[in-house]
Amino acid sequence: MSKRRSKGLKEKRKSKILRIFPSAEIFSVGRRSVVLKKGKLVIKVEKDAHPGTAAREAKWLRELNKEGIGPKLISLSRKLGYVTYNYVDGVTLPEFVERCSPTELVRVLKLCLKKARKLDLLGISKEEMHRPVKHIWVGKDVKFIDFERCHRSDKPKNVTQLCHFLFVGDNPCAKKVRDVFHIDKADALEAAKQYRTKGLELVLSLLDLDHVPKC
Ligand SMILES: Nc1ncnc2c1ncn2[C@@H]1O[C@H](COP(=O)(O)OP(=O)(O)OP(=O)(O)O)[C@@H](O)[C@H]1O
Ligand SMILES: [Mg+2]
Repeated sequence: MSKRRSKGLKEKRKSKILRIFPSAEIFSVGRRSVVLKKGKLVIKVEKDAHPGTAAREAKWLRELNKEGIGPKLISLSRKLGYVTYNYVDGVTLPEFVERCSPTELVRVLKLCLKKARKLDLLGISKEEMHRPVKHIWVGKDVKFIDFERCHRSDKPKNVTQLCHFLFVGDNPCAKKVRDVFHIDKADALEAAKQYRTKGLELVLSLLDLDHVPKC
């Protein structure tokens, strides 16, 4: 871990953590954490200025792992301010969408929407579903990551936000999804609106390949 990149961690804590995870590589430096990787393990270390971040991530992972959401929580060190969980072997959702076949697209988008629905039903807002470019990973399964900003909410908007990103947005992902499924933005907006009262079915029905002419 170079000095510049580990900015935000005091030298003493940093070296203690590196003694536990020698030769861990830097994955990313976010606003509140430095994320390391060692083999199949991710080590998310809170920055000195953001105490409690690792414990928060662990709390949500513990709860959400029971629902099949998030990478598997391995450990939490409150003292050293880090949480460890399994590395997700895969690519980000936009990378996946760019390269996948229509059939794979149906499977993965349905999984994403169902997981977002589960979060809604649990009354948990993830906060990042309107632009989940780095927070949904696709490998064998679909995994959401980064839960430190989660909070309880009476009206979580995970599905609604994800619908906007996937079907209505002005991003390459949405453009491909609209193209593949011949989705009209107005229909998608209506499905997202009706989701609150009628559930996920109408949203899922947007992902219908039978309506797509074969060529
Ligand atoms: N379990 C994992 N499997 C694969 N990659 C991961 C995993 N956890 C984190 N990453 C990688 O590390 C990056 C940062 O992780 P995370 O989003 O949890 O950190 P963060 O500090 O909260 O970042 P940000 O400030 O951008 O929210 C992710 O974008 C991803 O590239
Ligand atoms: Mg984050």
